[in-house]
Amino acid sequence: MRLVVLVSGRGSNLAALWKAIDEGRCSAEVVAVVADRDAPALEQASSRGVATAIVPLRRGDDREAWNVALKECVEAHRPDLVVLAGFMRVLGGAFVQRYRSRIVNVHPALLPSFPGAHGPADAIAAGVRLSGCTVHLVDEGVDTGPILAQAAVRVLPGDDAASLHARIQRAEHALLPAVVHAVATGALELDGPTWRTHGDDDGVILFGPDLPSG
Ligand code: GRF
Repeated sequence: MRLVVLVSGRGSNLAALWKAIDEGRCSAEVVAVVADRDAPALEQASSRGVATAIVPLRRGDDREAWNVALKECVEAHRPDLVVLAGFMRVLGGAFVQRYRSRIVNVHPALLPSFPGAHGPADAIAAGVRLSGCTVHLVDEGVDTGPILAQAAVRVLPGDDAASLHARIQRAEHALLPAVVHAVATGALELDGPTWRTHGDDDGVILFGPDLPSG
């Protein structure tokens, strides 16, 4: 299964995907990494000889023109699945229409709680004792698409947003490759606004503080 991964930042989820692929835990190939800025994650792709591109969105730019440009950039790599791994832009219009039900995002909270750019900080502020991450299909909203899988982690006494986010990221690094693998093998079928699992329904749902580090 051909993946195009969209990034904006460090790329620890991209690294976890590649580790899982290298170890035979994820039957997929990253064919391109595309960013909206000069993200550190792009260096991972360059060092592996994988195609990279930057499609910037600047203040005042036409958003729909940017969605079209991003769509055309991604289309050139013929992905089966588009993976948002720390991509900090809201997609819409032409892009979501073109790849509907074939875009997954990883979010650092148990949606529908705490959508948006500050999931771990918002969870700390709310005083929840359990948090985690969500892999979901992307629609035109902000972290609103159908939930595919979640992993839970505890919020520990003394946690701040950074320490909680670090623990959540351990869960992300296990969950995202597991979901991609489930899609690649057909265990998880992405099918419009609904989706179906075949076989072990719990195969991509992970719980608890003992998650593998990926
Ligand atoms: C992750 O926590 C992800 O949930 C959020 O952005 C972060 C990206 O981290 N959407 P990285 O760039 O993969 O390290």
